[in-house]
Amino acid sequence: MEKKVAVLPGDGIGPEVTEAAVKVLEVIARRFSHTFHVEYGVIGGVAIDKHQNPLPDETVALCEASDAVLLGAVGGPKWDQNPSALRPEKGLLAIRKHFDLFANLRPVKAVPSLLHASPLKEEVAKDVDMMIVRELTGGLYFGEPSRRTADAAVDSLVYTREEIERIVVKAFEIARLRRGKVASVDKANVLETSKLWREVVEEKKKAYPDIEVEHMLVDSTAMKLITNPAAFDVVVTENMFGDILSDEASVITGSLGVLPSASIRSDGFGLYEPVHGSAPEIAGLGLANPAAAILSVAMMLKYSFNLDTEASAIEEAVNTVFEDGFFTADLVEPGKRVLSTKEWTDKVIDEL
Ligand code: NAI
Ligand code: MG
Repeated sequence: MEKKVAVLPGDGIGPEVTEAAVKVLEVIARRFSHTFHVEYGVIGGVAIDKHQNPLPDETVALCEASDAVLLGAVGGPKWDQNPSALRPEKGLLAIRKHFDLFANLRPVKAVPSLLHASPLKEEVAKDVDMMIVRELTGGLYFGEPSRRTADAAVDSLVYTREEIERIVVKAFEIARLRRGKVASVDKANVLETSKLWREVVEEKKKAYPDIEVEHMLVDSTAMKLITNPAAFDVVVTENMFGDILSDEASVITGSLGVLPSASIRSDGFGLYEPVHGSAPEIAGLGLANPAAAILSVAMMLKYSFNLDTEASAIEEAVNTVFEDGFFTADLVEPGKRVLSTKEWTDKVIDEL
C-alpha cells in the first residue's frame, strides 16, 4: 500500500511525540512492505509565529493532498494573551471544520499494568474497553445565532436529521467491529434535538439487527461511567455531551499520555491526534509519554487505511512494553528509574 501522510507536530511536546509516532510508522512500513510518504506542515502557535495564522493555507493544501493527518498538540503560554483569531486552538477547530471531520472517536481501554494510576478501584477499571463516538461539527459549538450583549448571551443547539444520521451510522459500523453494543446518549426528556436524535437512532437501527441499542440520558451516563464503566462498548452522542463525557472517561485509565483519538469523515480521510495537550512545562525535556501519539498512528492504520493487522501490531507492542515494566515519567512514582521519550519509543520499535 502507498499512502501520503501529513504530519503537523504543533507546539510544546507535539514535535517530540509525533517524531516518535513517525518512527513507529516507518517500522510498520518496512515490516509490512508499505510506503508512507510523510510531509510536514505547521499548525497552532508555530504557524502563528511564522504566518500570523493558526491554520495557514499551505497547511490546508498539504492536508488536502494527503490521505490522513497526524497532529501533535497546539498551544502554550506564549500565545495565551493573543486575540481570539490568533489563538493556537483556532487552528484545530478550523481544520476539523474545513475537512468536515464529523466523527470523533476516543477509545478508552484499561491497560492492566497501568491500573495503579487509575482514580477508580482496580476491579471497577480493569475491564474497561469502550469507544466514545462524538459528533464533532454540529450542535452547540457551531449553532447560530451565537452572540452576546452586555447582559444576555445566546448559543444555539441545532442538529439536522442528516447530521445525526451520519454519526449514528458510523457508531453502528464501529460497534460491528467491536462487541455490538451501542449506548446512544441524549437528553430526550428535555431537548428537542435529543428527541430527533432518538427518532433517527430508532430508524437507523433497523438496518443493524445485530446491534444492541440502549438509549441513555446524559446525566445518568455520567454516573455510570464512574460506577460501571466496563458496561459500555460504543457510546454515541452529540458534540457537547461527547466533549464532557469523553474527558470524564479519559481519566479512568490513569494517564492522559496513553489516549489516542481520531476525527474522521465517511470517505476514510481522518485526523489523528493524542487526547493530551502540548504540556509546555515538560516540552523538550524527553519526559513526554509518546504512547498516545503512537496509538494515534495505530488508529490511522485501522480507520483510514483498513490495515487492521498493522494497527494491532502497534497496540500489542505498546502493551508489551508497559507489561515489561517500562514507563515514562508520567506513569511512575518519583524516584524510580524511568525511560525518556526516545528510550521508550525504541522499546516499542524493538518489540515491532
Ligand atoms: P495537557 O494535556 O497539555 O497537560 C495536562 C497534564 O498532563 C500536565 O501535567 C502535562 O504535563 C501532563 N501530560 C499531558 N500529556 C502528557 C504526555 N504525553 N506525557 C507526559 N505528561 C503529559 O493540558 P493543559 O496543561 O491543560 O494544557 C497545556 C496546553 O495545551 C494549553 O495551551 C492548552 O490550550 C493546550 N491543549 C491542546 C490540546 C490539543 O492540542 N488537542 C488539548 C488540550 C490542551
Ligand atoms: Mg474537551
